[in-house]
Amino acid sequence: MQEKLKQLKTEALLALKSIKDKAQLEELEVRFLGRKGGELTELLKGLKDLSDDAKREVGQLANEVKTSLEEAVSAKKKEFSKIEMAGLLEKESLDISQPALPPKSFGHLHPNTIIQNDLEDFFTSMGFMVLDGPELESEYYNFSALNIPPDHPARDMQDTFYIKNHTDWVMRTHTSPVQVRAMQKYGAPLRMIVPGKCFRNEATDVRHEHTFYQLEGVVIDKDISFAHMKGVLESVAKHLYGPDTKINMRPKFYPFVEPGVNLEVTCFVCQGKGCRLCKQSGWLEIGGAGMIHPNVLRESGIDTKVNQGFAFGFGLTRLVMLKYGIEDVRLLESGNMKFLEQF
Ligand code: DAH
Repeated sequence: MQEKLKQLKTEALLALKSIKDKAQLEELEVRFLGRKGGELTELLKGLKDLSDDAKREVGQLANEVKTSLEEAVSAKKKEFSKIEMAGLLEKESLDISQPALPPKSFGHLHPNTIIQNDLEDFFTSMGFMVLDGPELESEYYNFSALNIPPDHPARDMQDTFYIKNHTDWVMRTHTSPVQVRAMQKYGAPLRMIVPGKCFRNEATDVRHEHTFYQLEGVVIDKDISFAHMKGVLESVAKHLYGPDTKINMRPKFYPFVEPGVNLEVTCFVCQGKGCRLCKQSGWLEIGGAGMIHPNVLRESGIDTKVNQGFAFGFGLTRLVMLKYGIEDVRLLESGNMKFLEQF
């Protein structure tokens, strides 16, 4: 029996050498080491007929044979796994030198942002700070501090969204409240702009929207005059619509300035001759401006005996519509991709 065991071992090891794949290996494992009908198992069935001494000896040998066969089989298994893995890696190899596929589409800026960025650059080049303010504003900053007392009709013209249970909070109707905030924080001298979102309770149509953008500006210093204001507004107009652009200022009442003006620029379509865009007037309205009212300066802690200043507010949304010939303001906040992808 010992001879047979040795012979089985030699035979199995020899067979193992010529194994070519995993399937053959499994077959060989079953044939020699299988629990049911495996050659080793079958051989060991003869153990029971041996004497106790012989049983011990043969048993030991049988164990050795079994272990060495199992080891040889598992070594072969590992070898096959390695080969298999290498094959997989080869198939899945990643060529990092290969150029990436071009992206299907690029993101791009909203037309509001394009004009806002452009004006921020322009104003910073003239020494203005770019400031921000809260969109949910107190009634004090939005109205009262701007010389618009609670019973003033201007509050009706700028009807907005009030917040439930907070009657003194409003969604700001203009960027002007940041004038006061900035003066209180920085004092004089001051040169700043505030581009930002504003809200009004409007019945929306092609020219009115509940959400829109303005760009506010303030200059405060000693001896600031109406002439400085005209100079700044003219530079902005020329920057936006070309060197031949002129501005027109007509008196207009705003509670927070005195005197106040309505700001118009030469219609860039007809160069002032009169066309459909400017309704034959030759002018396009782009905002309001004026010398800051002493009440507002005082409310903001500015010494009116030493300093004075001017303020202006452009309809940023309006500038965008004029620049790109957009006829319906509602498109700007619509999230309509067909519209937005044109910019
Ligand atoms: N806040 C005004 C509005 O929304 C626009 C405006 C007018 C702003 C005159 C100003 C200004 O700073 O001086 O209608």
